[in-house]
Amino acid sequence: MSLVAPHQDSILPEPSADLKQHSSRLLDLLKQRIRDNGPLSFAEYMEAVLYQPGLGYYSAGLHKFGTAGDFITAPELGNLFARCLANSFAPVARQLCTAGQSYEFLEIGAGSGALAADLLQQLNPLPERYLILERSADLREQQHQWIEARCPQLLERVHWLDAPPENFRGIAYANEVIDALPIERFRSHKNGLQQQYVGLENQQLVTHWQSAGEPVKTAVAQLQAELGYAFVDGYESEINLLLKPWLSGLLQSMQQGLLLLSDYGYPRPEFYLPERDQGTLMCHYRHRAHTDPFFWPGLQDLTAFVDFTAVAEAGDGINGWQLSGYTSQADFLFDSGLADIMQAEVVDDLPAQLQLAAQIKTLTLPAEMGTRFQFMGFDRGIDTDNLPGFGGSDWRHRL
Ligand SMILES: C[S@@+](CC[C@H](N)C(=O)[O-])C[C@H]1O[C@@H](n2cnc3c(N)ncnc32)[C@H](O)[C@@H]1O
Repeated sequence: MSLVAPHQDSILPEPSADLKQHSSRLLDLLKQRIRDNGPLSFAEYMEAVLYQPGLGYYSAGLHKFGTAGDFITAPELGNLFARCLANSFAPVARQLCTAGQSYEFLEIGAGSGALAADLLQQLNPLPERYLILERSADLREQQHQWIEARCPQLLERVHWLDAPPENFRGIAYANEVIDALPIERFRSHKNGLQQQYVGLENQQLVTHWQSAGEPVKTAVAQLQAELGYAFVDGYESEINLLLKPWLSGLLQSMQQGLLLLSDYGYPRPEFYLPERDQGTLMCHYRHRAHTDPFFWPGLQDLTAFVDFTAVAEAGDGINGWQLSGYTSQADFLFDSGLADIMQAEVVDDLPAQLQLAAQIKTLTLPAEMGTRFQFMGFDRGIDTDNLPGFGGSDWRHRL
């Protein structure tokens, strides 16, 4: 998630009465679950506030992408991002289309549908089918409307899926999906590792730090062994236990092609820097970034940065898929022809010129999305030499 102008822990705008009522319904449900079954793990809490059918942030039709909403993503800035991606995908698509064959495109977590509409107009050759794997029913509807409004003639190629496609042969892409997978939070403590749970006190949601369960304990022990040091007393961070099953499930169903993932994150040694001792969890509400996960549940986004070393470990070697590259968003876009697109774009009027300049700055400046966001690719059964995107810089040694 990216913010137009982050206001860290600034005063948050008051939701309307309707929105507060909506949040209260989700809150009542959470409280009942806690009364019935005890405190929720943080991942269970995050799952509910983001995806509870009809009530969660992504499931309820309340959130908005773009400048009028809570955050802005790269595809929402304009079509430059899609044009660079299409340049990068073209040689792969051509390889897959040899001997009269066609290929398919899979977008995972398509948000508003902006990228789908832009890619459908940019991909060359066009995929036989443009598949969208989206878990929010409300967003599927929004995506349908967006694509229908922008390229109705291509809508018949678009199909929505509930599960990864079987025997997929093609190109798959996910932007800012891994950061939306529910994470567990842990804290190092002199009496043993602790895990964050969400409990109830005086009818309010509160954090309970309890002795960590086995899955978190095992994963954090492995993490520390790989890092080569133990977290000091009081160190807090996150671990994504869903990443591995999610990515391996996806790659198991894919037979040939390219999978590209982009998100904000760090290679592991930077993710778990000793000084990053509060972790990376962020809450986004109307372009404000803050750290209170209990602020009006269901009305705000919850997200954590991505440990790209974990992504590489989870994907490399699964079902014959191998890591093809890892680099910054800026380098990926420039290597995919961003400079050429800029030069070719002769814009006469000043507002359009300024809009284009602003788009490029947000996508590439280090303080914006340029290095905070990274791209990672996996391939199977294709030639990835000279694949546009990963030719500029190779960050794999940082993993
Ligand atoms: C932060 S939004 C990013 C949207 C879009 N990719 C963009 O860049 O604007 C996350 C998207 O991923 C979807 N999502 C989250 N978990 C998913 C999963 N396991 N499978 C498919 N979609 C998922 C959400 O519903 C939402 O559409």
